[in-house]
Amino acid sequence: MLPCQRHLFDLDPEVTYLNAAYMSPQLKSVTEAGMEALSRKSKPWTIEPADFFTHERALRETFAQLVEIDNPDQLALIPSASYGLTTAARNTPLSAGQEILVVDEQFPSNYYPWQRRAEETGATIRVVGPARPDRTTSWNEALLEAITPSTAVLAIGHIHWADGSLFDLVALRQKLNEVGAYLVIDGTQSVGALPFSVRDIQPDALVVAGYKWLLGPYSLGLAYFGERYLTGTPLEENWIARRNSEQFGGLVEYETDYQPGAARFSVGEKSNFNLVPMLHRALQQLLEWQPARIQDYCADIAREALEELAEMGCYLEPTERRAHHLYGIRLPRTIDADRLAESLSSNRVYVSRRGSALRISPHVYNTADDFRALVGCFRSALLAKST
Ligand SMILES: Cc1ncc(COP(=O)(O)O)c(C=O)c1O
Repeated sequence: MLPCQRHLFDLDPEVTYLNAAYMSPQLKSVTEAGMEALSRKSKPWTIEPADFFTHERALRETFAQLVEIDNPDQLALIPSASYGLTTAARNTPLSAGQEILVVDEQFPSNYYPWQRRAEETGATIRVVGPARPDRTTSWNEALLEAITPSTAVLAIGHIHWADGSLFDLVALRQKLNEVGAYLVIDGTQSVGALPFSVRDIQPDALVVAGYKWLLGPYSLGLAYFGERYLTGTPLEENWIARRNSEQFGGLVEYETDYQPGAARFSVGEKSNFNLVPMLHRALQQLLEWQPARIQDYCADIAREALEELAEMGCYLEPTERRAHHLYGIRLPRTIDADRLAESLSSNRVYVSRRGSALRISPHVYNTADDFRALVGCFRSALLAKST
């Protein structure tokens, strides 16, 4: 079991931060990497042409290890999840009569790109939700049933961003394979904290914004593209994506070919000398901790508190059907939601209200005491209602 890693972060002692799904706090080592990187441009002569390629390659190699990708060349650097997901959507073959499957209340970065493509091609978006109160089981069943020969693509997360329902990507991939459909995954709310294997799941695309569970800075993420996308059209034509771009002396010998793999899909100025070393440092730390141990840690510190909340009448998915780093708590009528919000705010306990659930998202800097503080807020809302 991992010990608490709070000393590696710069968290205020009076703050109970259970909101990494909103934005993770920054590791001290990542801040240091950023400061060092920022000062480098004061002496631009120390930035060699090779640096445009070597650092971002090291970042891709580390991410490839984290999510079990055999070839790091199949990774692109992206400024946002929406950039990667729009790239996937624009390069997914679609036609009238075909269906794009998404889940109910999907995060907009993985909805709008498909909505645009549906308008352009005459394909339709089919939204799939859970039919019964046992959300995860019934949701996965509904998704499997929704996959038919008309399905062109399933665009989904590993978990639902608002309440943590866990999608059975292996079973979904199998069924999608039977009809030749694409699987495009937004891993922003899971990759880094929940084990993910590209080798096992074989998505057509996996897109991850970096500032949540990858513990990186804002505005840099990573996207994996499978074979079917590798001859696609990028959102922009940047020179560094073209073959031989390493040869700075010959850049106007224009090239028609791109660099191999998914390099064509990387954002312009992908070498981003400030953000790349920061995200790289964060991924090295995640590799050391390992996502499976992050899950175990988060499960362990929350266990007692979540039992108490269940006794108060709160609803949570059973542990085997949800992730431990992000989950939604649904309130019973005996808890006054406004009073709870007030109590959380006055006690500086940070969580998010998303849809009908209160979203809790701990990490390795949290402790069982943080969960006791959370339970205290629930109790005061419960007592307040009955007085
Ligand atoms: C599931 C999910 N995807 C993506 C994002 C971020 O999207 P983008 O990088 O496009 O701003 C969020 C932010 O909350 C999210 O919850």
